[in-house]
Amino acid sequence: VTQLRMGPRTVLVTGGAGYVGSHTVVELLEAGHRVVVVDNCCNATPPPTTTTTTTDSHKGDDKDSYTDDKDKNGSSLTPTTATANHNNATTTEEGDKDGNKEDERRSALPLALQRVENITGKTLTAFYLVSLNDVDALTKIFAKHKIEAVIHFAALKAVGESVTIPLEYYANNVSGTLTLLQVMRSAGVKRLVYSSSATVYGVPQYLPTDENHPTGQGITNPYGRTKYFCEQVMMDLAASDQDWGVLLLRYFNPVGAHASGLIGEDPRDIPNNLMPYIAQVAVGRLKALQVFGQDYDTPDGTGVRDYVHVVDLATGHVAALEHVWRPDFNGCESYNLGRGEGVSVLEMVNAFSRASGRAIPYVVKERRAGDVAKMVASCTRAQTHLGWKATRTLEQMCEDTWRWQSQNPRGYV
Ligand code: WQD
Repeated sequence: VTQLRMGPRTVLVTGGAGYVGSHTVVELLEAGHRVVVVDNCCNATPPPTTTTTTTDSHKGDDKDSYTDDKDKNGSSLTPTTATANHNNATTTEEGDKDGNKEDERRSALPLALQRVENITGKTLTAFYLVSLNDVDALTKIFAKHKIEAVIHFAALKAVGESVTIPLEYYANNVSGTLTLLQVMRSAGVKRLVYSSSATVYGVPQYLPTDENHPTGQGITNPYGRTKYFCEQVMMDLAASDQDWGVLLLRYFNPVGAHASGLIGEDPRDIPNNLMPYIAQVAVGRLKALQVFGQDYDTPDGTGVRDYVHVVDLATGHVAALEHVWRPDFNGCESYNLGRGEGVSVLEMVNAFSRASGRAIPYVVKERRAGDVAKMVASCTRAQTHLGWKATRTLEQMCEDTWRWQSQNPRGYV
């Protein structure tokens, strides 16, 4: 694959304060790109400031900080001067003003993004605490920044929760995506990388599962259907207008954390997913893992999944941007991001115990509704067309997760 090394670009990252999003922002900044993050922090720990604020550290322009108060017509961003901060204090001395302005800017970032800046030594162009359904806010953001492409992570993502509150999942994941696409089209921004999921394959008819596998059949939960519906919208949009270039990245099971231990997965409630649950058992937050079934047709009877390190996923997104910016690329393509290797629940338990030096007590329970026995990716397409391949091992996934969890027993607080 001849990689067209692209120059620095301005990328809008929705959900950039979240797990995969924050790791991807690290890689984007380190690749030299300018990054604008939009996040409503429904999955991420919100900024420490009490007021919902947005910050813009765009170099060169006057730094604007926004208060997210809605006016009568619902427009939700009212730019204020940088010197008028949350309690309207103003600063007098130039140096003091710069120092205060920088402190104010950073304090308005979610902790995960403050740590992203610490890791990279780089500064975000802007962060906006905004929901994707806020069309006025999104429109203003595109008007203010010369966005060249969008990586769209923002979504509610808990499979079990989606069964209990499907309307919120469709409103947030599908309507939010429609609003984003409409604002992108109005702004003339038609380069998109979408955070999709292997869940769109439903119950796999063959393994390893490649991108030709049917989608939309046998999906067992509203979360998975929101991902499928958004993919369908993007396919239809790209078919209707050849100026669109869209990449659908279907993750298998993202796990792990940045090697610094500064950022990682921080579920809001009791973790739904295996790795964060194991990590919280290891660190003493949870008593024991429940193993959902040991009677599957797998080597040790427990569920098998294709776990992929979140930093590998992040580099996959940078590779996807290279592809989506190719002048000769348009249309809508899908790529599996996985390792092509299956790991069972008990294999993960043992690997994590080795990495952490901690026993992981577990109890075997009934199968979890909606689970499949085995999901493993065929990901040769991403290697051929994006020049991307996951490199991090199961041991690294466990070691990096443990470093994050042991250094942050309560996550981002
Ligand atoms: C993995 C294995 C469980 C928890 C889902 C979504 C997917 C993506 C990742 C968002 C299974 C077993 C789990 C536990 C267990 N989500 N398990 N005890 O279900 O493969 O994928 O999360 O991006 O879209 O579908 O991931 O981590 O929940 O489960 O035994 O407490 O671990 O049965 O075999 P899953 P998971």
